[in-house]
Amino acid sequence: MKIIRDPGRLNRLLKALSRSGKSIGFVPTMGALHPGHLSLIKQARRDNDTVVVSIFINPAQFGPKEDLNKYPRPLKNDLALCRKARVDLVFLPDSEIMYPEGFCTFVHVEKLANILCGATRPGHFRGVATVVAKLLNIVVPSVLYLGQKDAQQAVIIRRMVSDLNFPVKVKVMPTVREKSGLAMSSRNAYLSEQERGNALVLFRALNLAKVLIRGGAKDTVRIISRVKQLINKHKNVKIDYIAVMDSMNLKPLKRVTGNCLVALAVYIGKTRLIDNILI
Ligand code: PAJ
Repeated sequence: MKIIRDPGRLNRLLKALSRSGKSIGFVPTMGALHPGHLSLIKQARRDNDTVVVSIFINPAQFGPKEDLNKYPRPLKNDLALCRKARVDLVFLPDSEIMYPEGFCTFVHVEKLANILCGATRPGHFRGVATVVAKLLNIVVPSVLYLGQKDAQQAVIIRRMVSDLNFPVKVKVMPTVREKSGLAMSSRNAYLSEQERGNALVLFRALNLAKVLIRGGAKDTVRIISRVKQLINKHKNVKIDYIAVMDSMNLKPLKRVTGNCLVALAVYIGKTRLIDNILI
């Protein structure tokens, strides 16, 4: 496994591989790898000749009051996990090389970036879209692997890839959960033992929405109000948003008539967790 810090060097190496007909699977991450990330890496390994993983905690997607400094950085362990998963190349750039002095070009995916998580985290998806655009230009992969865990991010990146004609196929993999149902996330590390218990409310809330919808409930105002009631029974838990949407374009639905995406963001103590379910 090669570890490469220089974008130019990685780009030259990968272009040579592409020219010789090798397919390249790419998994962008911010490290603190867990089984959710590994499911993307495994899929990339199954599908491609070459697997590239990037580990870069992207400052552009963190707000001034967010957790950039305390975001976990277990690099040694991450590299061991990549090696074990038979990753070929790890791209490990630093902030100075990704955002050199004078950097001032950003990608803004209008409409989709300002709603849901984007409403609470202004500028977040601008940072995500910008770094993913840069990474796609550096890696030029055949397939980009993303997780359904970050449903809005996946929709935004798909939109950007289509709007800006990036020559890449996007594959979105299902959310990997702990046995308890809690969606795996690097941010779960912030939870105390008691908060971990409270965090199960996200999965329970999504399951309630599923039971209601499968049982024939159509009016989304009523569905959301039932889900809110369930969450509000818990202490030290605060709802950021609950939404029932069209899964392709994130448009809120008044009535559920077919497939839909139910997504929520909830503060467990000070930690903001997100989860979603496709129904
Ligand atoms: P990060 O949170 O490290 O996640 C990297 C990828 O892993 C994302 O596509 C995310 O959706 C996926 N993932 C995370 N938890 C998952 C789970 N439990 N099941 C399945 N997939 C999961 O998302 C980012 O990093 C960044 O925003 C990034 C795209 C790398 C841009 O900086």
